[in-house]
Amino acid sequence: MTGVDRRTFLIGAAVAGAVSTGTAHAAAPLFEHGVASGDPLPDGVLLWTRVVTSSPVAWEVAADAEFQRVVKRGVTRAAAARDHTVKIEVHHLRPNTRYWYRFRVGDVVSPVGRTKTSGCGSELRLGVVSCANWSVGHFAGYGFLAQQELDAVIHLGDYIYEGYSTELRVPDPAHKCVTLDDYRRRHAQYKTDQHVQAVHAAHPMIATWDDHESADNSSSIGSPSHDPATDGPWGARLAAATQAYFEWMPVREGKLDRIFRFGELATLSMLDLRSYRTDTTILGAAQRDWLINTLTTDPARWQLVGNSVMISPFKIPPLPGQPPSNPDQWDGFPADRELVLRSLGARKNTVFLTGDIHSSWACDVPLNGESVATEYIVTSLTSDNFDELLKVPPRTGSLVLEAQIMALNPHAKFVELDSHGVSTLHVTADEVRMDWHYVADKRDPNSAVARAHSFRTRHNTAHTERVLF
Ligand SMILES: [Fe+2]
Repeated sequence: MTGVDRRTFLIGAAVAGAVSTGTAHAAAPLFEHGVASGDPLPDGVLLWTRVVTSSPVAWEVAADAEFQRVVKRGVTRAAAARDHTVKIEVHHLRPNTRYWYRFRVGDVVSPVGRTKTSGCGSELRLGVVSCANWSVGHFAGYGFLAQQELDAVIHLGDYIYEGYSTELRVPDPAHKCVTLDDYRRRHAQYKTDQHVQAVHAAHPMIATWDDHESADNSSSIGSPSHDPATDGPWGARLAAATQAYFEWMPVREGKLDRIFRFGELATLSMLDLRSYRTDTTILGAAQRDWLINTLTTDPARWQLVGNSVMISPFKIPPLPGQPPSNPDQWDGFPADRELVLRSLGARKNTVFLTGDIHSSWACDVPLNGESVATEYIVTSLTSDNFDELLKVPPRTGSLVLEAQIMALNPHAKFVELDSHGVSTLHVTADEVRMDWHYVADKRDPNSAVARAHSFRTRHNTAHTERVLF
C-alpha cells in the first residue's frame, strides 16, 4: 500500500465523506456500506460495494494485503438503477487461494476486503449463520466469525428482517418493508453495522434467503403477514424484495439454488426454499431434479446442503395453542422430502446445514426408521428464541422442553432452545464437525462469544455424535 493509500484507508469513511460526490447524496460518505465478496469459484469470486458517485469506480485484486502484487484490476460505474451497488466478476484467479481487494473513486479508497477462491484442500472451514434481526440485538457473532480462519461463510437466510419493532435498535424505514425503496433502505441499514461490515470484509459469503428477506413464512404465492388490501399485490412486493436482495448481497444474479465445489472433499448445494414454493412443493420440479441429481451422482466425499428450513421431522410436544408440527418447514412437504431422502440410497455422507428455527440442533435424518443423512441447525444470531418469546429467564423450562422434544423425536440428538450465536463447520475426509459458538449477551455489541457444543458426522455413518472438548 502506498503512503497516500494507507492514509486514506486509515482515516476511512470520515475523510471519504468530506470529499464526497457533489450529487444529491453528497452528505453520505463514500463506501459507507463497506465491501463484500461472495459466491467463490475455483477461478474467481464476486466483489461487491456500494458507492454513490458519477465518477468511475476502480477496483483491484491483489495476492497480498499490501497490494504489492495486484493480479487483476478494472473500472466500472455505479448506477442508480441498481441503487448504486456494484458487482464485479473476477476470473482467472488460482483455486483455494486468498486474495485482497479494494475499490477507489478518485483518491478515496475503500476498506480492504479479504476473500478466497474455492478449491481442493484437505480441509474446509465454513462459518454458518442465520436469523440476524437488527431490532433485537447486536451482531457480535458476525464479529467473531470475522476473526476466524474460514474459507467462506454460509448464510442460511433471514439476513434482514422486513418487519418493524424497536426493542433494541430502531429499523429504517420506520415501518415494515413493502416497496423497493423500503427493502433497499433496510438492506442499507444492515450494511452500516460494524459487525456486518467486518464479516463481509473478512470472508466470501455464500448466501441464500429464507422468508424474512421478503415477508414472514413467504412463498411464491403469498405470506400470512401480507395483506393485499393494505400492502398491494404480493407479486409486486416479492419482486421488490428480490431486486433489493440481488442488488445488496454478494450473490450472482438471478438464482439462489446453485452449487459450490470444494474439490474432491465437498460439494455444497445451496437451496432456495421460497421462490418456487407453492402449497404442494417446497422445491419446485426443476430444483428437486437438480438436487437429487447432485446428491446421487456428484463424486465429492461430502454432500453439504445449505437448507434454510429444517428437513428432519419435528413432532412438537403438546403445548397450548401449538400445532403438532410446523408446516413452514419440510414437514409441510412430505412428498418432496421423501423423494430427496429416498434418492440417497446407500450414500451416507449427506449433511444438511439449516437455519430458521432460532435454536441449536443435531439430528440423524430418518427415513423408514433408518438414518440416511445428518442435519446441523445453527441458532439465530439475534432473533428471539424460546426464553425470549416466553419472556422467562434462560434455561427456565427449556431443559424440560428439550427433553420432551428429544423423547418425541429420537432422531434429534441435541436440542438447545435458548442461546444465540453462530456455528463453524470443519470438513475433513474423516468427518464433518459442527461447533456452536454462543454469544454471552446479544444486546452487547462487544459480547464475548465462546464455543458451547460440538457434534460430528463420521465418514460413511449418517449418524451424529457429540464431540467432547
Ligand atoms: Fe428467522
